[in-house]
Parts: sequence; structure tokens; C-alpha cells
Amino acid sequence: MEKQLPDALRELYEAAKKVREKAYSPYSGHKVGAAVKTSTGKIFTGCNIENSSYGATNCAERVAIQNAISNEGNIRITDLLVLTDATPPWPPCGMCRQVIAEFADKNLMIHSTNLKGNTKSVKFSELLPEAFTPDYLTAR
Ligand code: THU
Repeated sequence: MEKQLPDALRELYEAAKKVREKAYSPYSGHKVGAAVKTSTGKIFTGCNIENSSYGATNCAERVAIQNAISNEGNIRITDLLVLTDATPPWPPCGMCRQVIAEFADKNLMIHSTNLKGNTKSVKFSELLPEAFTPDYLTAR
């Protein structure tokens, strides 16, 4: 169910809104911003970066995660918010869900928001049940 943005998400929302302005999205026309908080308490942001080949497009969520890792090395994501201009707000795509699975616990809440402040919060394990995680590579 969608609700209005809770106060607790305001900081992440403002960070996503700011980076969203930097989006390079001449093909879809949709500007997307994402903000992740890591276990150090710092917030890192990313915007979508499209490409004329289409397939080389990077979503805002993956750019935010790449930015966090480029600054902190191995990270754990404790909060993730994505902001678009769309109604209803968009959840992360399948490729982003797989990347999130690498760096987050299944209880992480994913917050999808839009410029009207509509917010839908879903537990990550509901977005990607039975995720393939690094644990499978080490299990014998
Ligand atoms: N996009 C994101 O950045 N994040 C999402 O959660 C969904 C989609 C981008 C990719 C592309 O630039 C545009 O939005 C339309 O799909």
C-alpha cells in the first residue's frame, strides 16, 4: 500500500531528489535518483545513465551502490530509496535486485517514492524471494 513519505525517510529522499537532477536519460525521458545508506551511516547516491545502445543503461540503484563501494569498499546496505517522476513509484528492476542481494540482508526495506511523495515500502525478500547470494558459492 502507498502512503505519504514518513519523516524518517526525508534525508534519503532529499539526497535522491538532488542526484536525480543529474540523470542522463534522453531515451526514456525518466529521471531516476537512488540513495543508499550503508552500515557506516553514510549516504551514497546515483542517477540513471542511459546509453544509445539501450542495453548499456545503468539504473540509479546500481549507480548508487557502485558509488558506495567506490568510497567504502565492501558495504552492507541498511536503507535504500528510489525516486522517480512516475505514479505509482517504481520498484528496482530485476538486475538491480540481484545486485542489491549481494550487499543487503533479506529484511532490508526498499522504499519506492515519487515526486508527489507517494511511498511504497517492501521487504527485499518479497521483491526477490530465493535470491542467489554469495553463500551459495561457498556452500559444499
Ligand atoms: N530505471 C532506474 O534507474 N531504476 C529503476 O528502478 C527502474 C528503471 C531507469 C532505467 C532507464 O534509464 C529508465 O529508468 C527507464 O527504464
